[in-house]
Amino acid sequence: MRRGGPAALAACLAGALAVLAGPGPGPGPGPGPGSAAWGGRRPPRSYGHLEGDVRWRRLFSATRFFLRIDGGGGVEGTRWRERPGSIMEIRSVRVGVVAIRAVHTGFYLAMNKQGRLYGSKVFSPNCTFKERIEENGYNTYASLRWRHRGRPMFLSLSGKGRPRRGRRTRRQHLSTHFLPMLVA
Ligand SMILES: *[C@@H]1O[C@H](CO)[C@@H](O)[C@H](O)[C@H]1NC(C)=O
Repeated sequence: MRRGGPAALAACLAGALAVLAGPGPGPGPGPGPGSAAWGGRRPPRSYGHLEGDVRWRRLFSATRFFLRIDGGGGVEGTRWRERPGSIMEIRSVRVGVVAIRAVHTGFYLAMNKQGRLYGSKVFSPNCTFKERIEENGYNTYASLRWRHRGRPMFLSLSGKGRPRRGRRTRRQHLSTHFLPMLVA
């Protein structure tokens, strides 16, 4: 991985994103730094046309960790991309909604009412997330089932690679931004 900001990373992974986006308008370059539009109330964009689609990806956070669900169902970030449990099957269950399952450990990513992330062996509404392409080209994943005081609760890995409580997360936080990277 090259060093550099999210922009460099995004450029580096433009190919992967283009593949993800498939035909039709892909994630645009975004309005750039300083834009008031970003984080505002723009209409959500999603991978809706990929409904029914299954992708194998690693979810790499803007805080530079790979999302991982370990053999005990624990959710964490890891710096080591080859660590078992970091390859995710991302399946769209309906328009803009995905289920994320760690291929090698078999756990679905889930969020409970309190906003705690955990791995679940069984699929339930707790395992559904709204996937949205943000203006900087990263994706966010918000629990479809649970909100906190009307606000979405996001998948998030802190600067130390630890999952953050959903109710403390915001769409604008880097810790909620993820790039789905192709599995080589
Ligand atoms: C989903 O989350 C709720 C609230 O935290 C919990 O009570 C429930 O048991 C979970 N459902 C499943 C199927 O795990």
